[in-house]
Amino acid sequence: MSVVILGIETSCDETSAAVVIDGVDVASNIIASQVDLHAKFGGVVPEVASRKHLELIDCVVLEALENAKIDFKDINAVAVTHGPGLVGALLVGVMAAKALSYALKVPLVAVNHLEAHIYANFLEKPDVEFPTLCLVVSGGHTDLVLIKHHGSYELLGSTLDDAAGEAFDKIARAIGLGYPGGPLIDKLAQGGNADAIDFPRVYLEDGSLDFSFSGLKTAVLNYLNSAKQKNVEINTANLAAAFQQAVVDVLVDKTILAAEKYGVKVIMLAGGVASNRCLRNQLKKAADKCGFKVIYPQPILCTDNAAMVACCGYYKYLRGEFADFKLNAVPGLALGE
Ligand code: KG4
Ligand code: ZN
Repeated sequence: MSVVILGIETSCDETSAAVVIDGVDVASNIIASQVDLHAKFGGVVPEVASRKHLELIDCVVLEALENAKIDFKDINAVAVTHGPGLVGALLVGVMAAKALSYALKVPLVAVNHLEAHIYANFLEKPDVEFPTLCLVVSGGHTDLVLIKHHGSYELLGSTLDDAAGEAFDKIARAIGLGYPGGPLIDKLAQGGNADAIDFPRVYLEDGSLDFSFSGLKTAVLNYLNSAKQKNVEINTANLAAAFQQAVVDVLVDKTILAAEKYGVKVIMLAGGVASNRCLRNQLKKAADKCGFKVIYPQPILCTDNAAMVACCGYYKYLRGEFADFKLNAVPGLALGE
């Protein structure tokens, strides 16, 4: 018998519901993005996001069922993101999931948002060999995670300051590109020369698997200010390409270092920045040289979506890891908590 999981995701600015069957078959994945709503503020406004989630959650869930051609009675469990994220935004999804679980008399499954990003890989490749390594790069996180088996994680390194996506967004804002900046820098960099400007690569102490992007951000901002003071015109495509290359070099080098140190065969990419073309290509090239296999989800499954939540929820459902109705939103939830 098939296991049908309804996934719900409202941790930031996407209201999403999905139906996933047996952890691999995405029967529906509805994503109502609020990007346009927040773009005029240059970033996500938490209160605005919560209110929009409230407005959208019912119809997004109904649309997910309709697109999947299933009825409420076909659902075996409801999986929901309960952290990390914006507390008001998370609460909307958590309350909706609790109500559905109670009314349908099916288990409630609590999912960590970072874990869900990792599981976007298992949606398409459920047979990945353990242990495996995942570089999770999003707007809020830059983590190297060792996955020993389903549900068992060791955090090997993370950012000491800005997350990779956050750095992309801040630099995009500084050069007037708009929000969210990652995809815009990715596009602009295609026409630029990454060698035109030499920005710093911060590796921290020898062998460290932690990251730091604030020095790079300051270097780019100083470059912009100095050009402005001297009244020199900036080639934004070169700047985007050089900045992106500096981020990608460090991400790739540390990921390969971790893969070698922990003896994995497969490296996974996850999170919004995992869509970045330079990162995908460079990691693949470096991994090929060292004999590692690289997998990454298709772009729509890299950004926030409920299919990844439902997939992660499926494995928890199989393990009998159910939440009770005391489940709360946990904005600072760590992986493995
Ligand atoms: O995972 P995600 O959708 O939300 C969080 O959990 O944070 O990631 C959003 C982040 C944003 O910072 C966005 O600018 C970045 O992912 N991003 C990219 C690309 N697409 C999205 N960064 C670089 N290149 C991209 N193609
Ligand atoms: Zn995310």
